[in-house]
Amino acid sequence: MKALKLSFLAAVLAAAAALAHAKDKDPVDAGPYVPSPQSVVSDMLKLAEVGPGDFVIDLGSGDGRIVLTAAKVFGARGFGVEIKDDLVRLSNEAAKKEGVADRVKFITQDLFKTDISRATVLTMYLLPNTVNMLKDKLLAELRPGTRILSHDYPLAGWLPEKYVQMDLEDKVAISGVTTTLIYLYVVPAKVAGSWSASLPPGLSREPVRFSLRQQITRVSGSARIGSKDVIVEDGRLRGERLSFRLLAGGRSYEFNATVKAGAIEGMVEGAGTKASWSAAPAK
Ligand SMILES: C[S@@+](CC[C@H](N)C(=O)[O-])C[C@H]1O[C@@H](n2cnc3c(N)ncnc32)[C@H](O)[C@@H]1O
Repeated sequence: MKALKLSFLAAVLAAAAALAHAKDKDPVDAGPYVPSPQSVVSDMLKLAEVGPGDFVIDLGSGDGRIVLTAAKVFGARGFGVEIKDDLVRLSNEAAKKEGVADRVKFITQDLFKTDISRATVLTMYLLPNTVNMLKDKLLAELRPGTRILSHDYPLAGWLPEKYVQMDLEDKVAISGVTTTLIYLYVVPAKVAGSWSASLPPGLSREPVRFSLRQQITRVSGSARIGSKDVIVEDGRLRGERLSFRLLAGGRSYEFNATVKAGAIEGMVEGAGTKASWSAAPAK
């Protein structure tokens, strides 16, 4: 009897474990199917200045309208991922009917498990907590300069490059209010760490060590010039473009540069002159 009880308990535990495993594998529900009004779709794509060179990925693509419009009106290519099979079928049929099936496709797939590295523009209209669950994935997988558009919900702690707010009657049925927001973010290059920089002789004849910290698009830190640590002020990244200011010897210097392939190159302007500067990761 005791053995029977134990084997019953083992069977119950195994079933519970299998259920938990199956649950783990279930995709997270990132939001119900609620299509963006067509005017918002156009405004999103215009805000990101989408063009024929772009590859647009819509996470949770619904009836496919964002990627279809990007192809039909703006000449872009791309794909949409959607968890609901019937919506994916509808979207692929629409792509055929509208003559853009050679440039766009729709896939039944969990958006959290989708490779998004090909995007030059990424769009989403998802629940606020989902948008934030995606933040690390966006920063890790998207290339610097990729534009991200989020309908209605911001990415916490990430300053948008632009945002627009408008009132739309169509939204009352969706969210109960007319307020509509579109956020545009640009994926920043990575600059956190130590850099050895070559600056114009007026600033330093010796290599200068920069110690940089990065909070998404904000950059702070210091530069060791001679025996002094000079604070990096107003440090900002917009995609690959880095800008900041140094106050050295009572003078202000504006730095602008491009961060590419692990190197920084640009111009520094101040004290009546403009000259080039560069930096490489410090050894
Ligand atoms: C608010 S709708 C947005 C539709 C479309 N992007 C638009 O703006 O018109 C969100 C969509 O995400 C889909 N979705 C929810 N969770 C998902 C997941 N884990 N993977 C892929 N799609 C998902 C839903 O089925 C729904 O169609």
